[in-house]
Amino acid sequence: MLKRLRMSVIYGGNKSAEGAVIEPTNNARSWKSYEAVAKDIANAMERLGCRRINLVPDDMRLGEELKANNTHLAWLNTGGVQGLCSVAHAPAMLELFGIPYIGHDPMMAGILDSKHVFKRQLRSAGIATASFAIVLPEEGKYETSDDPVFENAFRGYEGPFIVKPVSGRASLNVIYCANRAEVGKAVEEVYGTTRNFVLVEQYLSGREYCVAIAGPIISRGGQLEHLGHPFAFSPLERVLDADEKIFTSMDVKPISGERARLLNRPEDAKVRAELEQLAHDVWNRIGIETLVRLDIRADENGKLHVLEANPKPDLKAPSANVTSLVAMGLPEFGMSYDDLILSVFADRMDMLLSQRRGKADRLMRLI
Ligand SMILES: Nc1ncnc2c1ncn2[C@@H]1O[C@H](COP(=O)(O)OP(=O)(O)O)[C@@H](O)[C@H]1O
Ligand SMILES: [Mg+2]
Repeated sequence: MLKRLRMSVIYGGNKSAEGAVIEPTNNARSWKSYEAVAKDIANAMERLGCRRINLVPDDMRLGEELKANNTHLAWLNTGGVQGLCSVAHAPAMLELFGIPYIGHDPMMAGILDSKHVFKRQLRSAGIATASFAIVLPEEGKYETSDDPVFENAFRGYEGPFIVKPVSGRASLNVIYCANRAEVGKAVEEVYGTTRNFVLVEQYLSGREYCVAIAGPIISRGGQLEHLGHPFAFSPLERVLDADEKIFTSMDVKPISGERARLLNRPEDAKVRAELEQLAHDVWNRIGIETLVRLDIRADENGKLHVLEANPKPDLKAPSANVTSLVAMGLPEFGMSYDDLILSVFADRMDMLLSQRRGKADRLMRLI
């Protein structure tokens, strides 16, 4: 199949490029091209035996590009180009075109990348997440005391708070507020940048963690196996400096072994088991179908709360000094970066061919 498959890896298109959009607009989500990682994914697929693979930007020419390439399958590595709910645009277009893809469906991509919607889902699924208020300043102005939503969410709680975009990445525009008095200005600032809802949360002062979870089919040393349950991996602590309230953006400090510590010592067993259980609960109760990375933080009592589930976690190929939070924990499972890529590919193929047969006629014809 890999020999005959024509695959396109889609990265974030640039709204300033000629012909990318009809009219450039605002970016509610901080824009990034993700092209370098799309290349890493394409290179891995080539090493795995895929002979016809190309890179295509996510923009309004996507359908023509995929048609011209006669693409059988797309791999989504894009956060979108512009506008609201931009991570959902490419999967929505692929649904429309009838091209199968690796990535979340448009609804799930939109939910996971909209922290305000995702947190409501977590609440209804009985999964712990920091107390929150979703606010939309009127004419850019915001006062906590005028807002019944804020009062209802926090009642007597006086802070500290976190103010952040509902659709964000890499800790950008995340603001720490020591008390209520600081919240109004922070909300106005985030709104000014994103022009979208703003999330105000209780500040969780404990340790910070990540864990990745993917479907049950994995590759180890190129051999596929079915685990019978989703695959939770790379549980790690994001090591914060003493005065670091918010994990510094990876745009500023790349992920290194000092900044992220795998939880593989005997004394880590308890928190590791809790993280894996939380990942399984999120996967099962929310109905996630392909790789996500959960960001998690403990409160002052050590209780774990889900901050977010990243629908397009960084899949950078590890190099000598820089790695990704998802790839860090692969060696303990006897897996390489190429195994991770093959796992995500094979698991999605299984899903498309066994459970969504009608959607994958193009792939059926190949085999
Ligand atoms: N409620 C919170 N309590 C404590 N820290 C938080 C909270 N929300 C966010 N943070 C900090 O901000 C960082 C970024 O927040 P996150 O929700 O993961 O958004 P994103 O990664 O999309 O920017 C987290 O890694 C964490 O360090
Ligand atoms: Mg995060």
